[in-house]
Amino acid sequence: EGVCVWRMVRHMFSNLLLLWSISHDLYITGLTYHNLFSVPLDLDVRLRRLDLSNNFIRQLHTLALPYLEQLDLSSNQLDLISEGAFENLARLEELNLSRNVLNNNVGSNGKALQSISRLKSLDISMNGLSDDAVELYLRNKSSLDQLKMTGNALTRLSHNLFKESEGLRVITIDDNQISVIEQGTFEPLSQLETLNLAKNNLAHICDFKLHQVKYLNLSRNSVEFFVTREDDQLYRLEILDLSHNKLLYFPIVPKMNSLRYLHLQNNLVGTLNSEATMVSEANALYYEIMNEKTVRKNNLHSNWRLMPLIYIDLSYNHFRSFPLETFNHLLSLETLNFSYNCLQNITWNVRNDESGYRRQLFFPSLKYLDLQSNGLVYISPLFLNALTQIETLNLQDNSVQPCASMDQSAPQINLNTSCVVFGQLRTLKHLNLKENNIKMLQPNTFLKTSLVSLNLARNSHMGMQVGSLEGVQKTLQSLFISEINMTSSDLSLPCMPVLTQLNISNNRLDVIPSSLSCSPLREIDIRNNHFASLNHSLFLALSVHLNLMYISGNYFNCCDSKWLTILHELKGKLPDVSDTVCFTSDSNITITEYLKNPSVYCLFHTKISLSASVCVLLCIIDVALTLVMKYNGKCGNSYAVHNIYILYLITRICWHFSF
Ligand SMILES: *[C@@H]1O[C@H](CO)[C@@H](O)[C@H](O)[C@H]1NC(C)=O
Ligand SMILES: *[C@@H]1O[C@H](CO)[C@@H](O)[C@H](O)[C@H]1NC(C)=O
Ligand SMILES: *[C@@H]1O[C@H](CO)[C@@H](O)[C@H](O)[C@H]1NC(C)=O
Ligand SMILES: *[C@@H]1O[C@H](CO)[C@@H](O)[C@H](O)[C@H]1NC(C)=O
Ligand SMILES: *[C@@H]1O[C@H](CO)[C@@H](O)[C@H](O)[C@H]1NC(C)=O
Ligand SMILES: *[C@@H]1O[C@H](CO)[C@@H](O)[C@H](O)[C@H]1NC(C)=O
Ligand SMILES: *[C@@H]1O[C@H](CO)[C@@H](O)[C@H](O)[C@H]1NC(C)=O
Ligand SMILES: *[C@@H]1O[C@H](CO)[C@@H](O)[C@H](O)[C@H]1NC(C)=O
Ligand SMILES: *[C@@H]1O[C@H](CO)[C@@H](O)[C@H](O)[C@H]1NC(C)=O
Repeated sequence: EGVCVWRMVRHMFSNLLLLWSISHDLYITGLTYHNLFSVPLDLDVRLRRLDLSNNFIRQLHTLALPYLEQLDLSSNQLDLISEGAFENLARLEELNLSRNVLNNNVGSNGKALQSISRLKSLDISMNGLSDDAVELYLRNKSSLDQLKMTGNALTRLSHNLFKESEGLRVITIDDNQISVIEQGTFEPLSQLETLNLAKNNLAHICDFKLHQVKYLNLSRNSVEFFVTREDDQLYRLEILDLSHNKLLYFPIVPKMNSLRYLHLQNNLVGTLNSEATMVSEANALYYEIMNEKTVRKNNLHSNWRLMPLIYIDLSYNHFRSFPLETFNHLLSLETLNFSYNCLQNITWNVRNDESGYRRQLFFPSLKYLDLQSNGLVYISPLFLNALTQIETLNLQDNSVQPCASMDQSAPQINLNTSCVVFGQLRTLKHLNLKENNIKMLQPNTFLKTSLVSLNLARNSHMGMQVGSLEGVQKTLQSLFISEINMTSSDLSLPCMPVLTQLNISNNRLDVIPSSLSCSPLREIDIRNNHFASLNHSLFLALSVHLNLMYISGNYFNCCDSKWLTILHELKGKLPDVSDTVCFTSDSNITITEYLKNPSVYCLFHTKISLSASVCVLLCIIDVALTLVMKYNGKCGNSYAVHNIYILYLITRICWHFSF
């Protein structure tokens, strides 16, 4: 979309410039054409930019545009470029030939392309190009800075390929079938910073040598291992994407590296049982590849120790235990994505120190830890202790039971219990415990944390003891307790003076907790509950801050509706009001319908109460009259009988109306 907008803007802008320059008789800057079958003949020689993309052009003959800098011929049917086609384009710097059929007439096209050595950017993606064609097309390109060859038919990159384009800085060759990269293909490209080889067939990176490259994308190949021979060179690699491959081990990275982002998601790392096995096998592999007989040291760890990594994604791998000692080396690591592995338990499986004591390791920079969907039951308190800077912990879709708070006077950690102690995570701000099958939230569970957001959703049948949010009620801004099947008597919330977002949808609630009057709620979701009406004064207090409220899926009584009048003022802040139904004594209508003319729908209701009060009044008068008559004894029995009959009638009518 961004590209489209940019193109539009670019076209508008260039057309404007065109008008401007025509009227000022200056260089023409840009021009765009549509529905062309060949290049127009009457082009202004002063053109600098020509966009002929998305036409039906099949052949390109000599262009005489000495000022042309950018030429876009993408998405045509170009299969023949005359040898001399570009000879008179002395200033051409950017050429886009993507989405054509340039795997034909390779000889002629090759000669044409070889004649433009000033080119800085060339895009020959999606042309069905073979290895040989590309080798021809890349000759005489000493100024080339960016090259894009996405979606061709390359299988092998030879050391001759970039021989005449050694200034390349950015190379994108994703989505080909490359399985071989010859020694010396990229090494001579001293300016190379960005190399994208995603979606190819590469299986082994045995000897990574590109110390100049900053960004390397090897995602979606079949890479089984990635090994760098240890040397004392500084590698500039900052971003390495090895996701969606077949890695069994962590990559063996350069000793002196600048790696900050490491993408290893969707691999097979952790398949081998223990961390120790994995590390020793990786090292054994290293020495095997280096042709040395014995493993001399722990290369994996010694190199990881020097890595300034801040982000690692290991989601969708096969870990059954947490690689504590490996991560312990990553002193700058801030984000660790460990979701979708098979951890079950995080035990403190660390070798003891020399004197036999249990070692406490730390993850001193870790702020964001994602452990979603691991089947976790148990997390050692020593592990949680190691998370000294943790801010966000995602434990969604596990089986973790939070512990009640520890006795504060004896802060000893009970290593035996299978529940998880959150109280010690003092830096924790965001905790996701959605879908953990939590049975009971004990008092003081989060006592010493400073939680800002807490997600307890979809723990169906979870009980919440009074005081379970004790200690976080002053910091909590966002609370999710949806899909728990809770009734109002199960829900007790403290006064939370900074709570702005609350989701209590999909429960069986019929009363909004009145403690919410403390909270400056901006967003509230009460969908799919048993509310028949909302407390008017509470709702009035809430409506001051309310910005978004979801209410559908309840069974509201239209005629018990003092609170509904407030809805009028909240118009536009109730996205699902038109899906919300309320009932009157004889029908269900949408609240929107009801609000259009409230008096019509509940008229009957109003009448009933009116007639009922009139009846009661009449009855009282009648009884009083009768008594007075009787007392005076004037009109005798017949009047009394008559009166009793009328009283009977009125009572019947009254009875009929009142109920
Ligand atoms: C070339 O054109 C295609 C299709 O219009 C576009 O997606 C691509 O980004 C262009 N290449 C460059 C290097 O601008
Ligand atoms: C390389 O390009 C230059 C012009 O930039 C041209 O003079 C020269 O003939 C080209 N070489 C070949 C082999 O085409
Ligand atoms: C690597 O390439 C893949 C496939 O094109 C892409 O999805 C991914 O975002 C890239 N990785 C990085 C870190 O840019
Ligand atoms: C972690 O990985 C999962 C699965 O790939 C993804 O959905 C989630 O957004 C990632 N988390 C972070 C913080 O990147
Ligand atoms: C995890 O720990 C529980 C009890 O602490 C134990 O029953 C279970 O077998 C352990 N699971 C694994 C995979 O180690
Ligand atoms: C913890 O377990 C060990 C044996 O597994 C037992 O000896 C010890 O008494 C237990 N401690 C507590 C506090 O339950
Ligand atoms: C919610 O609780 C009710 C009553 O205990 C029960 O009948 C119903 O099946 C529960 N619903 C879910 C989704 O657990
Ligand atoms: C509230 O929670 C439900 C169920 O967990 C979810 O579908 C809904 O999108 C949430 N509402 C908001 C406003 O995020
Ligand atoms: C309505 O809410 C107010 C607080 O705003 C509370 O004092 C009152 O008791 C509530 N009424 C009912 C019927 O719950």
